[in-house]
Amino acid sequence: MSQIAFHLNGAPVRVSAEAPTRTLLDWLRDTRGLTGTKEGCNEGDCGACTVMVTDATGSRALNACILFLPQLGGKAVRTVEGIAGPQGQPHPVQQAMIDHHGSQCGFCTPGFIVSMATAHLNGATDHDDQLAGNLCRCTGYAPIIRAAKTAETAPVPDWMRTDRDIICSQISPGGEGEARGGQAAPLPGFRPRTSDDLAAWYLANPDATLIAGATDVGLWVTKQLRDLSPVAFLSGITDLQQIEDHGDTLRIGAGVTIADLRAALAPRFPSFGELLRRYSSEQVRNAATIGGNIANGSPIGDGPPALIALGATLHLRRGDTRRDMPLEDFFIAYRKQDRQPGEFVEAVTIPATAPNLRCYKLSKRFDQDISAVCGCFNLTVTDGTITSARIAFGGMAGTPKRAAAVEAALIGHPLTPATADAAAALMAQDFAPLSDMRASAAYRLTTAQNMLRRYAHDLAGVPVSVLEVRA
Ligand SMILES: Cc1cc2nc3c(=O)[nH]c(=O)nc-3n(C[C@H](O)[C@H](O)[C@H](O)COP(=O)(O)OP(=O)(O)OC[C@H]3O[C@@H](n4cnc5c(N)ncnc54)[C@H](O)[C@@H]3O)c2cc1C
Ligand code: FES
Ligand code: FES
Repeated sequence: MSQIAFHLNGAPVRVSAEAPTRTLLDWLRDTRGLTGTKEGCNEGDCGACTVMVTDATGSRALNACILFLPQLGGKAVRTVEGIAGPQGQPHPVQQAMIDHHGSQCGFCTPGFIVSMATAHLNGATDHDDQLAGNLCRCTGYAPIIRAAKTAETAPVPDWMRTDRDIICSQISPGGEGEARGGQAAPLPGFRPRTSDDLAAWYLANPDATLIAGATDVGLWVTKQLRDLSPVAFLSGITDLQQIEDHGDTLRIGAGVTIADLRAALAPRFPSFGELLRRYSSEQVRNAATIGGNIANGSPIGDGPPALIALGATLHLRRGDTRRDMPLEDFFIAYRKQDRQPGEFVEAVTIPATAPNLRCYKLSKRFDQDISAVCGCFNLTVTDGTITSARIAFGGMAGTPKRAAAVEAALIGHPLTPATADAAAALMAQDFAPLSDMRASAAYRLTTAQNMLRRYAHDLAGVPVSVLEVRA
């Protein structure tokens, strides 16, 4: 019989007889009495439920409310109850939060402490980014950021280093931590180790739900109370988590997280890297995969417009049959993708360089918000003339979509403000956006036109980001 084995605050645990979509948050609170991990939003937005999860690749902050128990196999989990030392000594970030008055009602505080302790362990000092997924309604962020800065110089406590050793030595080297034996009922849900296993199983179970990072699927459970069975968890498939450098192209496995994608792509494509920095929060980026971001077919996902502008090729697999297509062709209509039953996203291939790629994300909140409009531009300019154009938007149609008329109008011209103005007028031929809670149709159209103007200035070397403009 199979159970899920992992370490919790330094001690081994085995879980069985739970629904495969039981969240870590509910399990911690209901069965372990670990109520320090709070439920705020139950949808990945507030960080009150943040836990630290360690595997062989490192330690990361994750939201326990949209993390299913089978995703933890072979890993080590540390909740806020495991952040202080064995004799109750406060962790440096806890002491700094006390010293800087970083807590009032305290509801957000456990999540902040776990995020801060994880960043401290990893030596991360970009506190605004590290804490963008933790919301505080009463203290305000200045004392919390001051506390994080103060703790920077304190050494990492010994007890915070033990999880890595534990997972390497005490849990099965296969990584999924599936314990066998005992009388307990098995924990349902298919947990393949290879994409070959997944391909065979999914062909036989085409109605199943694939769960990668669960940053979308988690909400189907916590908000829509859906029964998803049968399910397959993709998080143990390491061959889908690779980024292969083929010289002039990069092949990105579907299971690569947004955090890993950002780390790999930011040096090559700074603007794409900046887009990914603003993709939700540290906790969500650490879980969400690029395969899930493509497969969910959302018209407002941030990955597809950038990938389409890059000229990405999508790789799909059904059983032993594989097919490739330009990524834009995958998106047929609102939430309708060119994917057959039993077929899954295996990878996406992009060119290794694109010096003119620029990505602009417009959202109501700078951090941790879904795009109202996401515009990605990639022109080739040869001897002063535009010779090819790839422009893709999210938030402007029922799918991520190229601006075909605008692209055609640009080719053969120099990239000047006048050219951009003339082409921008054609944006209404390409798009008839909707009004919704994020933006009105008119605002979206105007914004998309202005993004093209911005791009012309950007390539001309004019500072266009509010972050670059200094008084
Ligand atoms: C708080 C919050 C903020 C967010 N902010 C952003 C944001 O700023 N930008 C943005 O783009 N998105 C955002 N999202 C949405 C979400 O993070 C992304 O869509 C994410 O990339 C989904 O990836 P996942 O691995 O979590 O997918 P999952 O939730 O596991 O799956 C999503 C869908 O894809 C399917 N699927 C997953 N992998 C595969 C595969 N290999 N083949 C076929 N089907 C597959 C699943 O069956 C499911 O239908 C946010 C989500 C939350 C909760
Ligand atoms: S409870 Fe808000 S992110 Fe989990
Ligand atoms: S201290 Fe009350 S929400 Fe942060």
